[in-house]
Amino acid sequence: MNFYRGRRLRSSAAMRSLVRETVLTKESLVMPYFVSDTDEPDFCRPISAMPGIDQCSLETLEKKVAAAVANGLAACILFGLPKNKDATGSEAWAADGIVQRAVRLLKKRWPDLLVITDVCLCEYTSHGHCGLVRDGIILNDPTLELLAKVALSHAAAGADIVAPSDMMDGRVLALRKALDDAGYAGLPIMSYAVKYASSFYGPFREAAESAPQFGDRKTYQMDPANRREALREAAADAAEGADFLIVKPAGPYLDVIREVADAFDLPVVAYQVSGEYSMLMAAIQNGWLDKERAVLESLVSIKRAGADIIITYFAEYLLAEGLI
Ligand code: PBG
Repeated sequence: MNFYRGRRLRSSAAMRSLVRETVLTKESLVMPYFVSDTDEPDFCRPISAMPGIDQCSLETLEKKVAAAVANGLAACILFGLPKNKDATGSEAWAADGIVQRAVRLLKKRWPDLLVITDVCLCEYTSHGHCGLVRDGIILNDPTLELLAKVALSHAAAGADIVAPSDMMDGRVLALRKALDDAGYAGLPIMSYAVKYASSFYGPFREAAESAPQFGDRKTYQMDPANRREALREAAADAAEGADFLIVKPAGPYLDVIREVADAFDLPVVAYQVSGEYSMLMAAIQNGWLDKERAVLESLVSIKRAGADIIITYFAEYLLAEGLI
C-alpha cells in the first residue's frame, strides 16, 4: 500500500492552484529600460543580442512605459546612455543628465510608478570601469564621493529608490550618509550586494555601451566560485544600511539567493540579467523552447529560491500577455 501519493494533490488545475507554493505577482517585477541622450525623438535602437529590448529616447521611453503601466507595471529601473563619456563619468551626476530627466518625466506622469535608478559610473566613463582609474587600478575610496553625487542627483530628480551597482566597498554607507545629510533620509537603497563577475552581463554591455576598455571587473565583482563571500558582502551592505539586497545574476546563482534570503531579514531582489534573457530568447526564437512556459519557469524558480522581487527584461512581455 502507498501511503504517500503525490498525485492526490496534482489531480486537477484547481487542485494544483490550491497547493501552489510560489506565485509570481505583477507588483514584484521590475522592468529595466535603457534611455539614451539623443536629439532624435523617435530614437529606438534594437539591442541585437536582446531581441525585444531597445535603447530609447525619452519620448520612446514614455511610450513604452505608458503601455507597460496600462498593463500593470509597478516598478522600473533606469540605465542611461550619455552623449559624452569622460574619465570621471561626470554626466552620471549632471542635474540635466539623461537618467535625471527620465526620472522627472516618469514621476511627473506616473507618480505611483516606482522609479529605481542604477547608480554606477561604467556607462559614463571613457574607460568603461565602474570607478575612478589611476595607473590601470580602479580606486575604491575616491570613487565613493562620485557615487554619492550620482545618488544625490537621482534623489533630487525624484527617484524612489537608488541602486548602487558598482561593487566598491563602503558605498552603501557613503550613499546613506550623503542622502541623510541632504534631507533624503527616507530614500531607500537597493544595493547590488552580491554581484558576480559574470559572463552573463555581455549583452548588457552592448546595450549600455559600457564594456571595460581594458582589463575586466574581477577586482571588484565577485568570483562565481564563492558562496560564503556572498554572505560577507551582504552582511557588510546590511550593516551599512541597505534596505534591499540584490543577488545578480539570478538563474545560475539560485543557491546564493536561497542563502541570502535565509540569512537576512531584508527584501531580496534577484536580477535575471541580460545574458539569461538572451539565452532564453535565442532558444525561443529557434523554436527550441516554448516562450511562455520557459519564461514563467525561469522566474518562478528564482522566486522559489527566495527572491521577493525580480528585475527581469521579461516584465513587459509577461504583463502585455496577461501571464501574471
Ligand atoms: C553596471 C551594471 C551592469 C549590469 C547592471 N548594472 C553591468 C556590469 O556590471 O558590467 C548588468 C545587467 C545585465 O546584464 O542585465 N555596473
